[in-house]
Amino acid sequence: MTPADQSTEARKICALAPIIPVLVVKEVAHAAPLARALVAGGLPALEVTLRTPAALEAIRAMADVPGGVVGAGTLLTPADVKAAKAAGARFGVSPGLTETLVKACQDEGLPLLPGCVTASEVMRAMEWGYSTLKFFPAESSGGAAAVKALGGPLPQVGFCPTGGVSLKNARDYLSLPNVLCAGGSWVAPEAKMIAGDWAGIETLAAEASALPR
Ligand code: 3PG
Repeated sequence: MTPADQSTEARKICALAPIIPVLVVKEVAHAAPLARALVAGGLPALEVTLRTPAALEAIRAMADVPGGVVGAGTLLTPADVKAAKAAGARFGVSPGLTETLVKACQDEGLPLLPGCVTASEVMRAMEWGYSTLKFFPAESSGGAAAVKALGGPLPQVGFCPTGGVSLKNARDYLSLPNVLCAGGSWVAPEAKMIAGDWAGIETLAAEASALPR
């Protein structure tokens, strides 16, 4: 799958909802009820970060949840891409972009949402064929003002700002013409997962899915 085709797929995923939950799943048992709550709240695209031993099993469990589109985040190596694809991930997210990651996603046929911050990083991603990018880490890299500024010379790129995005500042990003959606972990707090408060997570998801864009 070429980077251009990956970006086309990534754009469809970004169109599903204003927010892509960034999930750190520590217990496999949390995966299915968490996915059900987020989907019920209106957030079908889910990013499970490969940062816990449970992550790949969590992706497997979430892949069966009706209405969900489950992806893998924190992809750093070709091995991550292979494992994510084998677990049923339908898209991948990376904090950055490397040549080996591009090749792995091409070979595995996994749509990648790669991370960029600077104009040069965006231009390098465009040279590969990517036009749908994560802006990461969003808040500490200039926030909505920086994304807006990139839209001047590079309006063809659609961004998913992630990192420090919350219900308070999400509107600043989502109101920009070059923002497709945003990523955030606030919709799935660890304390609510431990407490099994799936209704509470559904409420957070419903608030996020109602954000205008
Ligand atoms: C991450 O990689 O953890 C994401 O950027 C999520 O960031 P957040 O916790 O600030 O939403």
